[in-house]
Amino acid sequence: MSSILILNGPNLNLLGTRQPEVYGSTTLADIERLCRETASMLGLDLTFEQSNHEGVMIDMIHAAKGVHDAIIVNAGAYTHTSVALHDALVSVDLPVVEVHLSNIHAREPFRHKSFIAPAAIGQIAGFGAQSYLMALHGLAERLRKSA
Ligand code: DQA
Repeated sequence: MSSILILNGPNLNLLGTRQPEVYGSTTLADIERLCRETASMLGLDLTFEQSNHEGVMIDMIHAAKGVHDAIIVNAGAYTHTSVALHDALVSVDLPVVEVHLSNIHAREPFRHKSFIAPAAIGQIAGFGAQSYLMALHGLAERLRKSA
């Protein structure tokens, strides 16, 4: 069974109350539940994590090597700032899918740049919680083909 790490970055623990006009009322716990349902339907093992700390996220990415087969990452605001997260993702040599709840390209110009994108096989943004589920479907297909 393939194993996926979903890694969430800063402020995503506040989903549900944080800027509901942008992110909706879905909580991170709701997203985790939806991801677990989809993962079990697709026959994927799932680890779901969140941290507000860049270094902790980097440690989790390093620890994924040899344990998980792919990473789905919503790096929150670190998406737009973190060369270190980019380097960590490239270093572990696992397929990465970048996800965002909002369409970062339709928001403020400072959100248009992603340091994660060059380390990822693809990016899904703008579909709310569905962005995560689409990433799971895409990875399931990819991992099935490469098995
Ligand atoms: C986000 C978009 C980022 O620009 C923002 O900093 C977030 C959430 C999203 O999922 O839409 O924290 O990654």
